[in-house]
Amino acid sequence: MNAKTLTAVQKTQYWRDGYLVLPGFKSAADIAAVRARADHIVTAFDPAQGQGIFTTQEQSRSTDDYFMGSACTVRCFFEAEAFDAQGQLRQSKALSINKIGHALHDLDPVFNAFSRSPELAQLATDLGLTQPQIWQSQYIFKQPGIGGEVRWHQDATFFETVPITVTTFWFALEDATQDNACLWVEPGGHAGPLRERFVRVQTPAGPAPGPAAVIERLNAMPWPALATAIPVEAKAGTLVVLHGLLPHYSAPNRSPASRHAYTLHVTDASSAYSPDNWLQRPDPLPVRGF
Ligand code: FE2
Repeated sequence: MNAKTLTAVQKTQYWRDGYLVLPGFKSAADIAAVRARADHIVTAFDPAQGQGIFTTQEQSRSTDDYFMGSACTVRCFFEAEAFDAQGQLRQSKALSINKIGHALHDLDPVFNAFSRSPELAQLATDLGLTQPQIWQSQYIFKQPGIGGEVRWHQDATFFETVPITVTTFWFALEDATQDNACLWVEPGGHAGPLRERFVRVQTPAGPAPGPAAVIERLNAMPWPALATAIPVEAKAGTLVVLHGLLPHYSAPNRSPASRHAYTLHVTDASSAYSPDNWLQRPDPLPVRGF
């Protein structure tokens, strides 16, 4: 895809539906490069470095030092179902990692190249991001058999700004289908309120005991029923853009096929980034744009 601009129809779709699907945004060569790099990172990962598990099922998720420290590093997280009762991996390490996060785009040259391009800069402009800032990158494996459910949520929960500007760039690195647990969205659901915020727990003296960050409920509006949601099936190379208030979900992956994806979370520096957000970027790794 050239650095062409979104059409008026595409912009209308995005602001009406809260998401936009752009097939063919990345080439097979682009995808092969990041897949090979992710494979290299996982091969080099020594689980003794950290047994972090990533799950969206617990109220406070994995809020230990390993998770919080990933804001400015590149770390691997296991699937919640990776280990058996004896603590042994059920599948090979390469088929047990839930994701790699969260500073791939700034620390790894291959992911930096994938994450920053004239095409993405133009798209951000077209979406109204006047001063884009890329806070987070994630390589998501959605492993065969054990790929964890990602419960209904809004990405503004994790990247609160005033006003809300967070925008998600979700790249399909493999064909995503209902069989291997593609995204589900609630079209138009971005018109609803922010339900939750994920905030750091701090005291005036510094970090408090217990979880480093917790989910706070802001609004009792229920999550969508699957009957009112639609699956977003996407061929490899497709870019799906999500508005930060759009409720979205993905089921566990019980199929024999993985469903790799790569995501970026971007806000506009013209909005105020909450100091309570879990992910902060102090020096020497300040947040940057495209
Ligand atoms: Fe999300």
